Amino acid sequence: AGVGAGAALGVVPGGVLDGAPAIRRRRVTPVCVASGNGQGAVTRAQEVLNGGGDTLDAVLEGVNLVERDPNDRSVGYGGLPNFDGVVQLDSSVMHGPTRGAGAVACLEGVKTPSLVARDVMRYTDHVLLVGRGAQDFARSLGHPIENLLTDEARQAWVEWRARLSERDDYLTPEETLYELPGFIPNLEDGDPLVDSHDGVRPQGTINCNIVDRNGDLSGVTTTSGLAWKIPGRVGDSPIVGAGLYVDNDVGAAGSTGRGEAVIKTVGSHTVVEMMRAGMSPTDACLEALRRIVAFTVEPRLLDDEGRPSFGVNYYAVNKDGEWGGASIWAGARFAVNGDGTTRLEDS
Ligand code: GLY
Repeated sequence: AGVGAGAALGVVPGGVLDGAPAIRRRRVTPVCVASGNGQGAVTRAQEVLNGGGDTLDAVLEGVNLVERDPNDRSVGYGGLPNFDGVVQLDSSVMHGPTRGAGAVACLEGVKTPSLVARDVMRYTDHVLLVGRGAQDFARSLGHPIENLLTDEARQAWVEWRARLSERDDYLTPEETLYELPGFIPNLEDGDPLVDSHDGVRPQGTINCNIVDRNGDLSGVTTTSGLAWKIPGRVGDSPIVGAGLYVDNDVGAAGSTGRGEAVIKTVGSHTVVEMMRAGMSPTDACLEALRRIVAFTVEPRLLDDEGRPSFGVNYYAVNKDGEWGGASIWAGARFAVNGDGTTRLEDS
């Protein structure tokens, strides 16, 4: 797990205070962390901060790059669809200074659900809108309603459907005498279609959290959720406290991976509470992961050694500009930009 370094001088815990007492301000080295698919996002977010932008605008501009990217199969446009071949998106935002939160779940047809989540926060007295109501709300504010299913994602779904069962009426290349255009005859290990037949389904997401020089924080999480999910399934990403939590007095945290495990342990809130109790961001992420491991008792979710057979990752920054990330399994990495350069760190 990465160990972050933040503000160097400490007149008070949590940062430097300068100036006359009435106008004393914290001074922190701004830092942005994101899931491993967020290298472009943390770079863009820091650019927005450097240009004088607000922390929430910064992380939103960052993740919007990934939401609009048709090649990221786990977020926004190009995300893998649900059981019925429909892309349903989840997202939440939190703005530390104003204690604001907004979220959408099962939103169809909007490439940037994070911006709709922001608008729920900005324009309504609610926190979470879902399904048709979320789309109607988005349309009312001028968000374009578009087809989010790319040809590649549709083909992946068609292929998954054909390989789902040997007892249904959908044929695979091995079962038909005819050529099936677009089908991959010999799937490689690691391909989501292979993984989905081993019981491990593609489950990407982007989470991005930032702290600015004043110690103000924001975060966003956005996803197309679990590939091939039951229509209407909601993951952790749009649930405040699960896939994202920000307390401007403490820090910001978010998650990727198996949402059901994060929801049951209220994961991101746990990370923030651990930081409030004095843990570093990395240790706080690890403690939240330990709770998931302890909470996982279903044999279907355990490997031969009794360990969770799924992945969860947490990412966190605190008010002092310290940062960290941790993963249940080795091999995961996360993106960080804290000194003008963007790099990947081991979780
Ligand atoms: N963490 C993303 C999801 O489970 O939907």
